[in-house]
Amino acid sequence: MSVEPAIAMDQVDVVLSGHTILRALDFSIARGAFVGVIGPNGAGKTTLIRLILGLIHPSSGTIRVLGMPVGKGRRRIGYVPQSFAADPDLPLRAKDLVGLGLDGERWGFALPSRSRQQRIQEMLDRVGASAYANEPVGTLSGGERQRLLIAQALLTNPDILLLDEPLSNLDIRSGREIIELVDEIARERQVTVLFVAHDMNPLLAVMNEVLYLAQGRAVVGSVDDVVQPEVLSRLYGQPVDVLRVHGRILVIASDSVVPFTHFEGVAHGQPSSPSPHL
Ligand SMILES: Nc1ncnc2c1ncn2[C@@H]1O[C@H](COP(=O)(O)OP(=O)(O)OP(=O)(O)O)[C@@H](O)[C@H]1O
Ligand SMILES: [Mg+2]
Repeated sequence: MSVEPAIAMDQVDVVLSGHTILRALDFSIARGAFVGVIGPNGAGKTTLIRLILGLIHPSSGTIRVLGMPVGKGRRRIGYVPQSFAADPDLPLRAKDLVGLGLDGERWGFALPSRSRQQRIQEMLDRVGASAYANEPVGTLSGGERQRLLIAQALLTNPDILLLDEPLSNLDIRSGREIIELVDEIARERQVTVLFVAHDMNPLLAVMNEVLYLAQGRAVVGSVDDVVQPEVLSRLYGQPVDVLRVHGRILVIASDSVVPFTHFEGVAHGQPSSPSPHL
């Protein structure tokens, strides 16, 4: 019996407020894959994640998640939304934030509080966050908070993990730690990961596939197949150069929609053209 892919899109279009945001998405993601979802601001990355979660619906085409119609598979998806700001005075401890991962679940019965605490503690240990379990989340660093959100998303043992820009606001070292943590846990639990990022370079060592989005269109495949001038020029609808320097990849569009370089997590203001991005 063949295993259905984690995610399968068949000619999916998404129209929001009269604008086509995603068009003709047609790809599948194998179970257990680590996929880097890469693209400039406004390309449709968050919209794609919301589509997989069933929070928005395609205007045409079909989506299957874990062999089920989209929406039915929702409970088997862990999700870390884009950006999370917490007031320093917010009366929520780190372990309470992780526990929300269980409260959001539709079990139909309450989990006994002992096994609930045990599961929260196990996840806190797994992401290396036990030391600050009782701290208010508003006082924690971006990297510490990101660990908690990953723990929260993993609490119900999902088959798919969707992370929307978990590296934003993190320094290079914290970013690297988060990538390693997600990669380890994903292998351990055979979780399919969609990891949204502006810069693909930090993910090169761990991702099996790249899902490259530009102007609402997507191309999916290995980095070697996808990150090619011809492929990306077709995707962007304009000439794109790809530079490979010291094991790093730089994508340069002649009329970039994103007027800066996002390089190892550092954005440099660079309004001139041609302007590299990612
Ligand atoms: N509900 C909506 N109604 C109309 N347009 C929308 C809606 N949600 C998103 N959009 C538009 O869809 C496009 C893609 O947005 P999306 O947030 O998916 O981009 P993104 O790739 O996640 O960008 P970023 O890197 O800034 O997070 C944008 O032009 C945005 O303005
Ligand atoms: Mg986004």
